[in-house]
Amino acid sequence: AKYTIVNQETCIACGACGATAPEIFDYNDEGFAFVLLDGNNGTAIVSEDLHDDLEDAMDGCPTESILVESSPFKVPVE
Ligand code: F3S
Repeated sequence: AKYTIVNQETCIACGACGATAPEIFDYNDEGFAFVLLDGNNGTAIVSEDLHDDLEDAMDGCPTESILVESSPFKVPVE
């Protein structure tokens, strides 16, 4: 299984991830990204059909703020 979370400490609100993977990422009022699936908790399984989008978004983030793991994240992310 895959889990994802945005490190909002390093996100620069570039807006790439939501364009690449709109079913996974959205932006808060300040433009910083969060994971739609679980309110950026890193605890929701990303379904298989979204894995390609997830990988593209991760690769496309200029600050490497999109973290992906095979187990749920513990927040806050270091
Ligand atoms: Fe932020 Fe990276 Fe998305 S900088 S807006 S998490 S592409």
